[in-house]
Parts: sequence; structure tokens; C-alpha cells
Amino acid sequence: MRVARWGLAPRLLAAIVVVVLAGAVTAWAVATAIGPAVFHLHIERSGTSDPGVVRHTEEAFATASAYSLGLALAAALATSVLVSVFVTRRIGHSLTTVREAAAQVAGGDYTARVPTVGMGAEFDDLARSFNTMAADLGHIEQTRTRMLGDLAHEMRTPVAALDGYLEGIQDGVVPVDEEVLAMLRDQVARLSRLAQDISLVTTAEEGRLTMHRQPVQVGALIDAAVAQAAARYAARRINLRAAVPERVRTTAVYADLDRLGQVLTNLLDNALRYTAPGGHVVVSATRDEAAVRIEVADDGDGIEAEHLAHVFERFYRADTARDRAHGGSGIGLAVTRSIVRAHGGEVTAASPGKGQGATFTVELPAADPA
Ligand SMILES: Nc1ncnc2c1ncn2[C@@H]1O[C@H](COP(=O)(O)OP(=O)(O)OP(=O)(O)O)[C@@H](O)[C@H]1O
Ligand SMILES: [Mg+2]
Repeated sequence: MRVARWGLAPRLLAAIVVVVLAGAVTAWAVATAIGPAVFHLHIERSGTSDPGVVRHTEEAFATASAYSLGLALAAALATSVLVSVFVTRRIGHSLTTVREAAAQVAGGDYTARVPTVGMGAEFDDLARSFNTMAADLGHIEQTRTRMLGDLAHEMRTPVAALDGYLEGIQDGVVPVDEEVLAMLRDQVARLSRLAQDISLVTTAEEGRLTMHRQPVQVGALIDAAVAQAAARYAARRINLRAAVPERVRTTAVYADLDRLGQVLTNLLDNALRYTAPGGHVVVSATRDEAAVRIEVADDGDGIEAEHLAHVFERFYRADTARDRAHGGSGIGLAVTRSIVRAHGGEVTAASPGKGQGATFTVELPAADPA
């Protein structure tokens, strides 16, 4: 069934006509019920006794009243038509700009904006909301495009390496020995880590990260992460040490042990990767009433101010050429931030500058607020 669609102009006109008619009926009722009586009273008081004069005067009053009412009604109706046409045009024009902009956005052009047309606060609000929405969509689209590009880029290197080795093996120029197999496994591991990390960040951003939270003691958490990293640090002759006061060691956070372990591992991996042999890395922790702060501080490469704000973005590397040689994908800190935020906490980076070390701070709500 087709629903009849009334345009704005006929609706507005109908509304105004109803108002005008109500006014006219009221005016007519008052004029006929009260007007003649008042007029008659005044004629009587004036002392005129000639019935002919009285009749003529009263007729003149009735005619004049009828003409005035009729003319007023006609003028009001004409004005209603003009006003509704004018207002409809203005509103219609404003709506057209919104409709066109919406069509542009639907077509993938996120630069479309609605101008504020001076049609009152409601329209300006609509225009502003629309523009904010278009800008946000544009930003999301930009991020999505960049992320897909980065992802393809990150996959290319290990895939090309695998392809090269397999071709060499097939042609008999590369031997299938322990070393080559380890190399192949390395590349596969890199791809699978990439897939896992991307999936974790995406899941966390959608708020769907499954977590098995339980009270975890800060001391135990840090000890486990430090113990796990110790061999790798020793191999690069970098000094790793935990400095956690006893009061903080026994403080609990309500956390997913594995995921929070991954946070510390990521930070320790970075500190290791971006610190030269002979350097120092210290893991410390403090607490106040509401929060526990775990710090991983190194005296390594440091991060320039312009990069600090971006290091948590997916695929962001401060020094692309050098960091790729290090083998990083630039996703570790994005994963770290996703996990920390899923715990209701926040992670921040600080560095006095290039070559002056970096400190990463993970702040988590304390499980037993003091
Ligand atoms: N401790 C640090 N010192 C100096 N720079 C750092 C440190 N930690 C991170 N960065 C900078 O931040 C960037 C992003 O770090 P992130 O952990 O996300 O990526 P990655 O370590 O390069 O790769 P991935 O962790 O995915 O293997 C790094 O490329 C590096 O430039
Ligand atoms: Mg990293």
C-alpha cells in the first residue's frame, strides 16, 4: 500500500488556514453577538427617536462590520499562502543541502559539509552534528585505509622470504637443513604473531576481549616478567632489574594474568630492542589510594617528542628504516594499550629525547583501594 505523502508546503498552509479560520469564526461570533447590542445601546443613549435613522445607522454598522471582517479574512488567507511558500522554500533549501551532503557521504566523499544557514538553532545543531559525523567517518576511513596498507606491507616481507626459500629448496639451491628450517619457522611465526596481534587489537577496540580477571599481586607479576626476559637480556648484556617496595609488591590488581604478562613482556622487549648493550632497564612500581603504577625505564635510544604521541598507534615506528631492521612491526604498543585499557587503566610514554632513554608507565586501578 502506498502511503500518501504530504509535502511541507501543504501541511504548513493547512495549519495556518486552520488558525486563520478559527480567528475569523471567533471574530464573527463576537461581532454578531456583542457588536449590534452595544451599538444599539449607544444609539438609544444618543436620544435619536427617528426609526428610519436608527434602522439606517444599524444597517450601516452591520455592513461595515461584514466588510471589515471579510477583508481581514481575505488578507489573512493571502498572507498565509505567501508565508507558507516563503518558509517552505527556506526550509526546503536547508534540507536539500543536508540531503545532498548525506548523498555525498554515502558515496564515499567524507569532505561533504553542511553550511549553517541561519534557519535557527535547531538547523544549526543539525548542521553541526552532521559535519561532526562526516568528519569522524572520514577519519575512520582514513585509519582503515592506512591500516590495510600497513598490514599488506608488513605481510609482504615474511611472505617474500618464505617464497624465496621455498623456491630455492624446490630448485635444489637451498639445502633443507636446521638453519633454513629455523628461518622458515621464524617467518611463519612472524606472520602468525601479526595475525594474532591485529585480531587482539581489533577485538579489544570492539570491546569483545575475553578476560579472566582475578586478583594478581604486583610483585609476582613483575617477577614473572623479569624472569622470562632475563635470558634475552643476558644475551645482549643489558642489565635488567626490578625495584619494587615491599608495600607495593603485595598490592593486588584485578587482572587477567596472561594478558597483563603480555603487556610487561612487550614493554621489556621494546626496552631490550631499543637499548644498546651495556645499558640498563629498571622495572619499578608505586601505588597511591586508587592506582598502581608500573614503570619500565631504560637508558637506551629514547624517543623524540614528535613521535611520543604516536608510538601507541598501530604500525607506528619512530624510525622506520632502523626499526624494520630490528624486525618490529610497530604493533606491540598498540596491543599493550588495548590490553591496559581493557583493564580500565592507561599506558603512557615519556622520554627526554633521542638517546636519553624512555620510560613507559602502566597505570591500573588497585584491587583494594586504600
Ligand atoms: N623503549 C623504547 N625506546 C625507544 N623507542 C621505543 C621504545 N619502545 C617503543 N619505541 C618506539 O615506538 C615504536 C613502536 O613500538 P612497538 O612496540 O609498537 O613496535 P615495535 O617494537 O617496532 O614492533 P613490535 O613490537 O610489533 O615487534 C617503535 O618502533 C620504536 O620506534
Ligand atoms: Mg615492540
